[in-house]
Amino acid sequence: MIKAYIDTITAGNCLDLLKRLPDNSVAMAFADPPFNLKKKYGKYNDHLKNQEYLDWCKIWILELVRITRPTGSIFLHNIPKWLIRYSHFLDDVASFKHWIAWDAQTAPMGRTLQPNHYGILFYAKDSEKLIFNELRYPHKRTRQTNMLAKDYGGKKYLLHPYGPLVSDVWIDIHRIKHSKYRDTHPCQLPIHLLERLILMATNENDIVLDPFVGTGTTAIAAKKLGRHYIGFDVDNDYVDITKDKLKNVESNSKIGNSWVSFYLDEIVTLRDRDWNDIKQYFYIPTKIQYIDKFPIILKHGPKNIPNYCAKKNEMDDLFLFEEKKKFKTIKKFVKIIE
Ligand SMILES: C[S@@+](CC[C@H](N)C(=O)[O-])C[C@H]1O[C@@H](n2cnc3c(N)ncnc32)[C@H](O)[C@@H]1O
Repeated sequence: MIKAYIDTITAGNCLDLLKRLPDNSVAMAFADPPFNLKKKYGKYNDHLKNQEYLDWCKIWILELVRITRPTGSIFLHNIPKWLIRYSHFLDDVASFKHWIAWDAQTAPMGRTLQPNHYGILFYAKDSEKLIFNELRYPHKRTRQTNMLAKDYGGKKYLLHPYGPLVSDVWIDIHRIKHSKYRDTHPCQLPIHLLERLILMATNENDIVLDPFVGTGTTAIAAKKLGRHYIGFDVDNDYVDITKDKLKNVESNSKIGNSWVSFYLDEIVTLRDRDWNDIKQYFYIPTKIQYIDKFPIILKHGPKNIPNYCAKKNEMDDLFLFEEKKKFKTIKKFVKIIE
């Protein structure tokens, strides 16, 4: 039964479609439902009475838990107002792991604090069996000097060359604001947000389910990372856009043997346990303190993925040729690292 839905985007009401998926069959369920904020969706009334909205959410949330494997994770993206109520349904059937605060400014609502984060509620189907990969993201740097934003009080020699472990506050992923980067969808999420969740909760070839796939963010992220996807959306137009986009997506978001998340040609999330394999693809200062001034640099950009396995000398030549223009301090930098 499930085979018919794997690596497929299906048009229809998820309340009907979810019933067709067997128990314990996907590694991760992610849901980004309409927030009931009177947004203009093609085929959906985003203006229900509070209780009506919550009753509707309860049905699909319990379905997501049923379909997720005991080792799996359930992620629910919404505004805090709804997420706190979601935990009333979830606490009986799954284990709370985290409230991830995704720092993203939203519209002022009047007579409230300025809402400055969305929540991603993270539940394990079974805490004891959960598959969980620790992740790292790049050190935050100041825009003008490109130096580390934090002082680390004389402890820079202890830093991880790539960056800190991902916490439950995400400030480094921005909403898609510019219309040239978005489809005709009011709430499209950034692909690297989903890639971070997928790297955290799944392994290669696992299945990721999204019952409100919109214009395909979750499916695209899953495919790029060598996972399978199941996507539903009630709106045929969004389904068509997603199917079209997926035709051009390759499962190649990799460096060496490790799946990673790229954004603008930089790695923005990697799994901690892959670092030993990945570090050979970076120039890393021999003295770790130097990363205060000199970010570690990928020897090749992701456009050259097939060349990642080139010999070190070839990489050096390419690096110097390509990067000279980009980094004014490159000569100084190379002296320090070699
Ligand atoms: C917040 S958007 C999801 C956006 C998506 N995460 C993305 O990045 O493109 C919610 C989506 O749920 C869809 N939707 C609403 N009710 C639905 C239902 N009952 N079954 C399936 N999809 C539904 C809407 O058409 C909309 O595309």
